[in-house]
Amino acid sequence: MIIFGHRGAPGYPRFGENTAVSFRKALEWSATGLEFDVRRCADGQLVVIHDETIDRTTNGRGRVADLTYDELSKFDAGFGSPIPRLADVLDEFGTRCLLNIELKETGIADDVKKLVLQRRLERHVILSSFQWQELKGAFPEIPLGLLSSKLADLISAARQLHARAIHPHKDIVTPSLIEAGRDAKLQIHVWTVNDPAEISRFRSLGVDGIFTDFPERCSTLVS
Ligand code: G3P
Ligand code: CA
Repeated sequence: MIIFGHRGAPGYPRFGENTAVSFRKALEWSATGLEFDVRRCADGQLVVIHDETIDRTTNGRGRVADLTYDELSKFDAGFGSPIPRLADVLDEFGTRCLLNIELKETGIADDVKKLVLQRRLERHVILSSFQWQELKGAFPEIPLGLLSSKLADLISAARQLHARAIHPHKDIVTPSLIEAGRDAKLQIHVWTVNDPAEISRFRSLGVDGIFTDFPERCSTLVS
């Protein structure tokens, strides 16, 4: 089972979330994958941050889309670590584990794909989004993962888009969803699973991966 550090290891808030230091901790603590979120900043570069603003996760304020990377990089996103660029994350972690890149905005798939292909990292990446049509531009080079907290259309859309995986919220995962996923030859990566008993339950159900804020809780389960 793949253990994705969800935004790194944010169960330990002093390292921040979606920061290089949090990603390093996640890998030290048994993660075999990293999950992170991508947006575009004012100068067009792609940066790794969950929210539309930097208010919650840094010591600064403002909208990501209104700030250049020079401006963004001056703020502390945790443990002195700045908001990273997607390029920086690909360079440091791209060959070390599986990277789940989540598109948080429309119209960025092509540029994400470019950065991944320039580094020949397509076999180390899965591209995911709640807005499934946004993923289209990355196919066939980059494997796709369809995110959802609803069952409706998930398997059929994944088939239609030739996705590699479905990424369901943990509350909609049932044995029958897992069976349907298997029948459609889809991998199943479940988010966000932090409780040790739940981690074991999903392992027993045979899912292919989980996203967790506490990767060290999975150290005995990695395979
Ligand atoms: O990829 C799973 C999960 O990250 C989706 O939700 O809000 O944490 O980006 P969120
Ligand atoms: Ca995410």
